[in-house]
Amino acid sequence: MATLQNLLPCLCVFLANLVSTVFAKGPAEVPLVSSVSPEQPNFTFARLYDLQVKFYDAFLWPANLEQMAAINSTLLAEDVIGRIDITRNFEGRELNTEYLFGLFAQSAQHPEIITLVGVPVSYEIIHFTANQYITSAAVRLQFNFTSLGLTVPVEIDSWNTYNEAGEITQFDVTFRYWQWLVDHVITASAPKVGATSPEEAITKLGQLVAQGVCSTHQMYCTGGNTQYADFNACLSYLTNATRFGQAYELGRDTLLCRSLHRNMVPYRPEVHCPHIGPAGGGMCGDEMDYPGTVASDIFPVPYKPYGY
Ligand SMILES: *[C@@H]1O[C@H](CO)[C@@H](O)[C@H](O)[C@H]1NC(C)=O
Ligand SMILES: *[C@@H]1O[C@H](CO)[C@@H](O)[C@H](O)[C@H]1NC(C)=O
Ligand SMILES: *[C@@H]1O[C@H](CO)[C@@H](O)[C@H](O)[C@H]1NC(C)=O
Ligand SMILES: *[C@@H]1O[C@H](CO)[C@@H](O)[C@H](O)[C@H]1NC(C)=O
Repeated sequence: MATLQNLLPCLCVFLANLVSTVFAKGPAEVPLVSSVSPEQPNFTFARLYDLQVKFYDAFLWPANLEQMAAINSTLLAEDVIGRIDITRNFEGRELNTEYLFGLFAQSAQHPEIITLVGVPVSYEIIHFTANQYITSAAVRLQFNFTSLGLTVPVEIDSWNTYNEAGEITQFDVTFRYWQWLVDHVITASAPKVGATSPEEAITKLGQLVAQGVCSTHQMYCTGGNTQYADFNACLSYLTNATRFGQAYELGRDTLLCRSLHRNMVPYRPEVHCPHIGPAGGGMCGDEMDYPGTVASDIFPVPYKPYGY
């Protein structure tokens, strides 16, 4: 009969085997020095830092106007693919030029249109590391919410990859403290919109933001690009038939999402009018759920040094 004393040595051997198996499969397979991918560039750290700085210099207002004027930004690869956690995935140079540069330029050029998109006016890189063709940066920017009379700090964390020409091929962006930022902006703008509570501010801001979307719709979404019968149908839909949206819902079936896409409508009405329409044009819909969003892998180029 097996006693505890008989079993103990077996248990120890079993554990020792387990430990050595685990460790044999762990660090032993990882190269001590990373090799270089045959498909990706091998930039110096200094060059990668420079590429990151170049991007943020161009991102600020009014430098972003210059990128936007080029339509296809020279900072982006033709097949660039990006993901922004609070919105969506964006593919291709032209679309990404609009979302990265045009979006914020519009808010600066039309402060009279109430939108919850701020204008980036300054930045500082607070964390940075880089390897071969990959950068990871945390950047603190000041955004001027021109139509609300507020300037607030915003932290953007990003992982980028670059091609041989130094163009961005991929970006994966997170807005840090985003929920808090949205709450802060809503609370701080309450007096401006004549509200005494955050709930009232959301209702009043919702009205103003919807009016901004609908006046843009009336001006640019005509003929085949029309989404709503008229201004009132638009306002009714945006204030009554869809929700204002949670902080993370800038890429979902919300007023917040349509308010963001409103900024792009003047650039290419045929592309962007559907995004502010009731169906959302593949940009403002609820088709993705939380697990699906977190589980999706969209990047063809690895975000880890070659060999790992
Ligand atoms: C890659 O670049 C680094 C400098 O950043 C250099 O030290 C290394 O030798 C390069 N590797 C190859 C294989 O070219
Ligand atoms: C931008 O690039 C796209 C292809 O990616 C091309 O179809 C379009 O004509 C270009 N626009 C300009 C203004 O160069
Ligand atoms: C923010 O924008 C407003 C309106 O355009 C401007 O008057 C103000 O100087 C800007 N503030 C900063 C810090 O850029
Ligand atoms: C929204 O619905 C309310 C109540 O049903 C109505 O009084 C209001 O006029 C509607 N607003 C718009 C813009 O249609």
